[in-house]
Amino acid sequence: MVANDDQWGAHTQKKKTWYLTTPIYYPSDNLHIGHAYTTVAADALARFHRLYGDEVLFVTGTDEHGQKIAQKAAEAGKTPKDFVDGIVAFIQDPLWKTLKVSYDRFIRTTDADHIEVVQHVFKQLLDQGDIYKGTYEGWYCLPDETFWTESKLVDGKCPDCGRPVERVSQESYFFAMGRYQQRMKEYILSHPHFIQPPSRRNEMLSFLDSGLEDLSISRTGLSWGIPVPDDPAHVIYVWFDALLNYLTAAGYSSPSGQFENTWPPDVQLVGKEIVRFHTIIWPIILMALNLPLPERVFGHGWLLIGDTKMSKSRGNAVDPLELVEKYGVDAVRYYLLREVPFGADGNYTEESLRLRINVDLANDLGNLLSRTTAMINRFAEGRIPSLHTQRREIDRLLPDLAAEVYEGVENAMHHLLISDAIQQVYRLIRAANKYIEDRAPWKLAKDPAFREDLDNVLYNLAETLRVVSVLLTPFLIDTPDKIRKQLGLTAPIKSYREAIFGQLKGGEEIARGEPLFPRLDLHGDKDGSEVLTTGALLPNNPGAKAEPKPDGGTPGTEREGTGTVEEIGIDEFQKIDLRVGTIRHAEVVPSADRLLKLTIFDGERDRTVVSGIRAHYDAGELIGRQVVLVANLKPVKLRGIVSEGMLLAGSHGDLLSLIAPSTPLPEGARVK
Ligand code: MSP
Repeated sequence: MVANDDQWGAHTQKKKTWYLTTPIYYPSDNLHIGHAYTTVAADALARFHRLYGDEVLFVTGTDEHGQKIAQKAAEAGKTPKDFVDGIVAFIQDPLWKTLKVSYDRFIRTTDADHIEVVQHVFKQLLDQGDIYKGTYEGWYCLPDETFWTESKLVDGKCPDCGRPVERVSQESYFFAMGRYQQRMKEYILSHPHFIQPPSRRNEMLSFLDSGLEDLSISRTGLSWGIPVPDDPAHVIYVWFDALLNYLTAAGYSSPSGQFENTWPPDVQLVGKEIVRFHTIIWPIILMALNLPLPERVFGHGWLLIGDTKMSKSRGNAVDPLELVEKYGVDAVRYYLLREVPFGADGNYTEESLRLRINVDLANDLGNLLSRTTAMINRFAEGRIPSLHTQRREIDRLLPDLAAEVYEGVENAMHHLLISDAIQQVYRLIRAANKYIEDRAPWKLAKDPAFREDLDNVLYNLAETLRVVSVLLTPFLIDTPDKIRKQLGLTAPIKSYREAIFGQLKGGEEIARGEPLFPRLDLHGDKDGSEVLTTGALLPNNPGAKAEPKPDGGTPGTEREGTGTVEEIGIDEFQKIDLRVGTIRHAEVVPSADRLLKLTIFDGERDRTVVSGIRAHYDAGELIGRQVVLVANLKPVKLRGIVSEGMLLAGSHGDLLSLIAPSTPLPEGARVK
């Protein structure tokens, strides 16, 4: 049964369900990270709204009819239904299951309730004169399943995708869209938020100005589709069928009252190439049905490979499951959500994904957690201290910023600025890392007079991490819980309000764990055996063989090859404190052409090391790398900078290579 007047009349006080949709994808092939991009973005919005206390209906699904699918099925030697069943099963599990897409309904255009809705709508519009029968003479783009008139073609090809079009001449039903042109234009003008971002709105306004023709909405000679009621020689045009999925999924045909409480959609996410379908054809169908229009249609940009759109037909598609297998679901989700400002096009490269993992996830977030828990272990016997009165201004910094970020994330998410929301969270994470440097808890720990200060610093850090765990919940799946586990928190996150600073009680027993994200070698695997073959303890200034070393070590110990060095006992070797560290910052030392100033996290704190490797490495490429640090060298001043250690590297002739663990290790790990 389809929604009738009685249903419209029924009134309920219930808060409207927050209704969110993705496009329904063609199951003509396996999907790629372009599809994952839209779907994961929608998932983040859905999770945010659930956390925010909204009842959410999040719908995704598949667009299964049409000539293109029929052809693919024939090529595969299957019936269309068997063919799509196989692909749809894969999309649901493992694809969306692995990416943790929390849809509430997966709609298929072959679902019985959808077929009922499509036929009902068709009949209603036919009865009321918005659909009529005529003859279609024009062009058809098969890959896009789109009709075009001669005048809209570009160089005789499809204006959307540039591929060849075929001539079609057949009896057809038409949707009388032309008559809605003015009304549609007025609607867009009077609803500035309907089409987003604003650039897409302008495109649609000029499209409308170029004239709106009636749309052919049926085809003959094709059996894979929903038949026109009472005229089965025609099947309904796949786009007309597909757009109506949004009505079906909201319960249009169901007598339950769900529809009244759900309609209209709050956000419809689509890729920019199908904005026209969603902001002209689709709303005109709704106008004809006398239904409210969606609040917002957001046309996001494309993931590109080089300069071209990633797509199955171009053969440059990247498989999301392969990436998850390699990097984990949270890293892939983080990348998709953070890398490209939502709305713009963005280039996909695996290097940029790896860089995000190292810098944002392993370094900034991972380090904050490992440093905080390490210090609570060391300076507070493994329990988060309770907060004392925060007497110092500097200790207000994180609570104040957390309040700002709370609102910033909320605001960004309401405006669908997902990447911006994540950047807000990172303001807090980076400020917390800086706060560690500024407050230097290891110094406070030396003087009992600073006990309360130390407690406050440790509390602020742990509480910031708790807040971060809540704020990251819409985006990442396992990480928030991992953070909380290490902080000794077990209760699941239920509400966005838990991201308000100050809810940690103190006394929680922390449980240090694995690093949150393993750090990746951005430059391919290095062979650690180099340390042994060249035996080089690299002075920070390798070019200057006879000069005093920046770290104060004895000059003249550099050598190449083997056999020229006197023997030492293991006791002597063990005097050298070698530790794994991670380079967090690197910058050129002005007026010293061989030197870089590095900030290296050693598991406990950031150290400054001045190193003479500038001829071999750019500052930018070092960030995120693991290195082996000689940790117990006496500090020396070099070009006015105190250098607190030395890096291990192999060298041979002009070659020089920093030594790193072959798989990532927690910072502070002993090298022996
Ligand atoms: N079936 C239609 C949509 C009907 S909706 C009523 C369709 N399907 S599709 O399989 O081609 O999926 C297109 C959508 O997938 C895009 O609008 C976008 O959401 C997503 N993407 C596919 N490739 C993409 C990129 N390279 N980059 C970003 N998103 C991409 O069109």
